[in-house]
Order: sequence, then C-alpha cells, then structure tokens
Amino acid sequence: MEEVIHQEKSEQGWQHPKGKKVDAKAVPIHEVPQGYEKRTATPDHEFNRVLGGGIVPGSLVLLGGEPGIGKSTLMLQIALALTDQKILYLSGEESINQIRMRAARLGMSQAPHLYLMAETNTDAVFRQTRTLRPDLLIVDSVQTLQSELLDSAAGSISQIRECAGEMQRFAKDTRTPVFLIGHITKDGTLAGPKLLEHMVDTVVQFEGDRNYGYRILRSVKNRYGSTSELGIYEMQNNGLREVSNPSEILLSQRDENLSGVTVSATLEGMRPLLIEVQALVSNSSYGTPQRTANGFDLRRMNMLLAVIEKRLGFRLGTKDVFVNIAGGLRINEPATDLALICAILSSHEDTAIPQNVCFAAETGLSGEIRPVVRVENRISEAEKLGFKKVYVSRYNMKGLDTSRFGIEIVPVGTLEEIYRLLF
Ligand code: TYD
Ligand code: MG
Repeated sequence: MEEVIHQEKSEQGWQHPKGKKVDAKAVPIHEVPQGYEKRTATPDHEFNRVLGGGIVPGSLVLLGGEPGIGKSTLMLQIALALTDQKILYLSGEESINQIRMRAARLGMSQAPHLYLMAETNTDAVFRQTRTLRPDLLIVDSVQTLQSELLDSAAGSISQIRECAGEMQRFAKDTRTPVFLIGHITKDGTLAGPKLLEHMVDTVVQFEGDRNYGYRILRSVKNRYGSTSELGIYEMQNNGLREVSNPSEILLSQRDENLSGVTVSATLEGMRPLLIEVQALVSNSSYGTPQRTANGFDLRRMNMLLAVIEKRLGFRLGTKDVFVNIAGGLRINEPATDLALICAILSSHEDTAIPQNVCFAAETGLSGEIRPVVRVENRISEAEKLGFKKVYVSRYNMKGLDTSRFGIEIVPVGTLEEIYRLLF
C-alpha cells in the first residue's frame, strides 16, 4: 500500500516551538509537494494489518489497553524486530534495566538499533531526539509524560493533552512515526486515552481476557486504513506469537456434543472467524434472575431473550442466563445473533446441536432471520474447517451460487422455523 507524502523527512533538527507563534502560510493545493512513500511493514503481519499495511511516516498512533495486557511487550517486540530502523523507546514506567530483561525474555541477542531512555520530561526527550534522530519513537506511557509548559502533575488531563500535542507536532514536523502507549481501565474511567482519540491518527486497542492467553489487537480509528481489522496473538513465555489461523484455536476441542454450545461464522475485518458461543439457562434460585454476558453485548443479549420469549413463547423471565464467547473474545457482530439464540435454546431444551453445524445470521425484533454481509466468505471458512452444515438467512440466498460449496447451506426465515429444524 502506498501513501501520499506531504513533506520530506528533513527537519530532524526539530525544536519544539514552545508555544511561540509560528508564521503560518496557506499553500495552493497543487503546490503541495506530492510523492509516494511506502509504509514500513514490520515483520509482524498481524500488526501490519491492523495498522492498514504498516507504519505510516509521521503518524501518531495510540495503543490503548488495560494494565498488564501486554502493550509494552508488543511494542518492545516490534522494536526489536525492526532491525533496520533506529528506534527510541521511552519508558516512564519501568527502568531501562527492566526493559532489557524483558527483551532478553523475548529472545533478543543483539539490538544495536534500539535505544532505551527512562525519561518523562518532554523537553529532555526532544533534546535527545535531536541528537539521536530516531526513525521511530515509542512512548511508554503517555500518562507518564510531563511538559515543562504546565505545572500540573503527569497523568493529569491537561498534561496528557499537552504532551500528546507536542508529540503530534514532532511526528508531523519530522515525519517520524510516534507510538503512544496509554492505559485504560475496563470501565474506561481513566479518561486520558479517551481524550486523545481525536488528536491521534490511529487508535489501536489491545484487549483480551487475562485468564486466556489470547490477545486481540483491534483498530478503532485509522486515518490510514480500515477500522475493522483485527490481529490475534497468543501470549507465551517468550512473548506474543501471531496466530494466523484463529478459528482452529477459538473452537474449543470437544469430543462429544454438549447442549448450550454453538458455532458462529463471524467476520472480523476482512477475516472470517469461527467462534464458539456458550450459553447456560437454568432456574433462578433467587428473586432476580441473573443475566451475564462475557464477550457479548449484554443489552443485545437481553433483546434477543425478549425476542425468544415473544416469538417462541418461552418463559425465560424466571431463568438465569449466562452467555460466554470462547477464548475470551469480544464480539460486536450482529451475525452472531442466530448462534447465540440457538445456544440459549439448546441449553434451555438440554438438547445438543451437532458439532459440525454453524450459524451466520442476524435476528430482528420480530424474530426474522436477517442476512449478513459477505456470507460467501463465512461459508467458505466453515467448509474449510470441516463444518457440514451452515444456517443462513433466506435473504442471503439470492445470487448465492450454492453449487460452489461442498457444505450444506440451510436457508431460514424465522425463529420458529429454525426451532423446528433443530429441536
Ligand atoms: P506488559 O507488556 O508489561 O503489559 P502492559 O504494558 O500492557 O501493562 O505484559 C505484562 C504481562 O505479560 C505480564 O503479566 C507478564 C506477561 N508476559 C508473558 O506472559 N510472556 C512474556 O514473554 C512477557 C514479556 C510478558
Ligand atoms: Mg507496560
């Protein structure tokens, strides 16, 4: 993928203007220097894909995630792997000795291209970049940075905003890509990184359940690419490993058919992903029935429960309902609706749905089974993974060349219909 550049990477002697007024001048659009510049592709394919093809010169990227999820590990791993670039890794959280130890754990032998600096004062940082002239700057974390222009403490909203602003000017003026690591808590209470989202070019989020080894890298904003891309890693003893065939690990290995388990043919970005949906419906022993959803939107689950009640006449109001997406994944795709509903029905009826069956459809409020985008990709992936039958919306059948597929494609129109077919 190629990008238009606006400016040569020339101003390496860059000094932060320190709030001084600079003479700004408008330029006619045809005089804007034009050219093409390649993104820097890293050896990490998952990372490249999430960024939209690689690191864009002069871009400011925010990597957000909960503490302990693996942000520092990911960035250090990328930094170690980019051996043909001079990289400055700023650490305000850990000593450079700790980072060295982590690098050793990641299998580093020699990395003369990587410079570490435990510094939080932005002035000192920019003094260093003037002499070092790095090709890439990594800031771990933005919450520890401190600008002399402000009196407030590091991590305060005004400091975060000011420091990110300085980093933005540095990135744009010198064409040096800058990665800002930012901590966010589960409920998003630490407002810092949220407030940065509009200042940066790209926001990627690192997420996952710490009880599982899997980590998802997701782009939530990208001026240089799509926001639906997803990278999957597994945290191992010696760092993060790319998972290039995620479906195989996301489907739990089961030997027998269990009730309450279904498989959904979802799509994350351009990539089809088959994931397991688990549900448990049981009699509520206390007054208020419990409703819990792991990896699925709770409000959407409640809506689907209401649809089941209304359309199929089940009394779920007195039941506890627990839903879980296997592997600690979080799914936002409505195409998971049908698999979720069928998992709930399967648990409720205590009747297993065969393992070689999967689902790809959205469900509407009136119980209609609605079509999903790129159904062919989902069907192909299901077939590739050995599934024998896939349930889709009948509205997805138009123009679908079923003879292309070896898997049985079953069109359904309503909830009643799928219920009759399955139970
Ligand atoms: P870290 O990158 O420090 O997280 P963050 O910067 O997001 O706070 O990763 C922390 C966790 O990752 C820590 O619990 C240890 C674990 N880990 C591994 O399991 N394997 C490894 O190779 C490394 C470096 C860390
Ligand atoms: Mg860290």
